[in-house]
Amino acid sequence: MRVRAWSTSANLGPGFDIVGIALRAFKDSVEVELEEGGPNALVTEVKGPYSSLVPRGRDNAAAFAARAALEIAEQKLTAKIRLWKGVPPRRGLGSSGASSAAVVKAINIMLGNPLDENKLIKAAAEGERATSGHPHLDNVAPSLLGGLVIIGEEIVKIEPSVRFVLAIPWINTPDRKTEFMRSILPRKIEMSKLVKNSASLALLTLGMATGDLEIVGKGMSFSIIDELRSRMIPGFNKIKEAAMRAGALGLSISGAGPSLLFLCDKCEPVLMAVKRAYISVNIPASIMVVEPAEGSAKE
Ligand code: HSE
Repeated sequence: MRVRAWSTSANLGPGFDIVGIALRAFKDSVEVELEEGGPNALVTEVKGPYSSLVPRGRDNAAAFAARAALEIAEQKLTAKIRLWKGVPPRRGLGSSGASSAAVVKAINIMLGNPLDENKLIKAAAEGERATSGHPHLDNVAPSLLGGLVIIGEEIVKIEPSVRFVLAIPWINTPDRKTEFMRSILPRKIEMSKLVKNSASLALLTLGMATGDLEIVGKGMSFSIIDELRSRMIPGFNKIKEAAMRAGALGLSISGAGPSLLFLCDKCEPVLMAVKRAYISVNIPASIMVVEPAEGSAKE
């Protein structure tokens, strides 16, 4: 049995650690064997286009998530994981989250589904803790559940009808990039900025829930976090300007970057403008139109 999980984009601007969406852009998949003894887990084989960029053995995010799933399910088993790595790491596309979501889902199916959604998300978050130092849920939850996920006291999922242009720049990023991009954020924020960010988040979620793309775009357009992180993203202002001129309704950094996500209604002109903008700033990038994806499941 092979289980896959799609790439994700976290934050969508103002929803830092709160909002994430599964995107039909890239996917990871796993095959798992369970043996007596444990709980333990290791990645025994990695294949796929990005296989050389992730660790084998016990240090892969998927191994941390699998161990957590077995612990929560109180199973004295060892998971041997064969991973197909199709989500590029360190691009802000929930790469470790996708491996983690796929493996906990696979283990749950093999054990007869003892873990509910919340427990699966909690287990998968251990993969994030290991790779980024923080168990944020805004990649693993949409990767597991699909659609757009809002993380509060409850985890709520909706299936908005939206399309984006996704731009993935092939630039060097720091080791433990998410941890680094979190370390540059302030511990405290001004009240006026909090109010502005909250207003954006309210618009973003309202627009998503009602299908009003103009409102979604307005919601994506201010984020305290993106304001700070965008300084670390080469060419950001030029690319943003070009996309907005071509009709993008809003944009955000995808997760901790460096990929960018542009909300669009008529996406073709935005795609072309973003392509030209990356060429003009001399940054190699892959640009594509993407739609929301479904949750992790058997292939
Ligand atoms: N919310 C997290 C962050 C997502 O922005 O740091 C990381 O993919």
